[in-house]
Amino acid sequence: MSGSADSMDAEFDTVAAWTADVVAGLDPAYRIPAGCRGSGSPGALHWLLDHIRPEKGAIFLDCGAGVGGPAAFAAGETGVRPLLTDPESGACRAARSMFDLPALQAGSQLPIATGAIDVGWSLGVLCTVDDQPAYLAEVRRVLRPGARFGLIVYCAAQPGDFGIEPPEGNTFPTVEALDELLERASLRVLTSGWTDHFAEFPADWEDAMATVQAELERRHGDDPRWRTAEEQSRRMGSLLAAGEVRGRMLVLQPA
Ligand SMILES: C[S@@+](CC[C@H](N)C(=O)[O-])C[C@H]1O[C@@H](n2cnc3c(N)ncnc32)[C@H](O)[C@@H]1O
Repeated sequence: MSGSADSMDAEFDTVAAWTADVVAGLDPAYRIPAGCRGSGSPGALHWLLDHIRPEKGAIFLDCGAGVGGPAAFAAGETGVRPLLTDPESGACRAARSMFDLPALQAGSQLPIATGAIDVGWSLGVLCTVDDQPAYLAEVRRVLRPGARFGLIVYCAAQPGDFGIEPPEGNTFPTVEALDELLERASLRVLTSGWTDHFAEFPADWEDAMATVQAELERRHGDDPRWRTAEEQSRRMGSLLAAGEVRGRMLVLQPA
């Protein structure tokens, strides 16, 4: 296995499973904040939900859902019925045990009928995917005409190399390159925004995320897989803090 595959497995498989074990022993109020560690803030998730306007009871696809915190948040806020996909078995198991949500183990070949999805999102996934056009084509395939679909995509401020070492296995498009990828996938951008306009996390979320982080560190701090995952998130944090990478929120519709 390559170094980048090891790093991605540590981050998206092993730590996902460990997170589910940690929250199993905590108050249920910890689950959504713990499940959203490293993804959108509640403000960013609200912005997306306000723009994709899911109907209560709708099937809501979360493609690359990780441990399922954002999908559980969407269900709690709007009454949608989430359907999760993720290629990592540890992430799928964590989503089932933490939130009792249906999670299909799948990457860029979704076991979902063409045109079956009305609404959903895919958050922080594109930059981790090997074949970005194939991933977008598959999202496009499953959307019904008129569907609305949210993305968070981490975009490079400039083309070329970063001044800081990026997380392994990630490829960050520029905004222009992303727009081109979306156009080629026949996905129209209805509106867009930036996650850093919604960077604040409420104090109770900060507390819950810090508690879970401390417990993960206590249990697994000596494990090389934990240190690999932490190094990945440290590098991502440095890129974001330096403004070399920004989180772009998009609302898409099949063209
Ligand atoms: C940065 S995490 C984001 C997880 C979750 N969306 C969140 O915001 O908390 C990226 C996720 O994308 C998943 N992933 C990687 N390749 C994928 C693919 N081809 N299709 C769907 N998901 C993929 C990873 O396993 C990982 O769970």
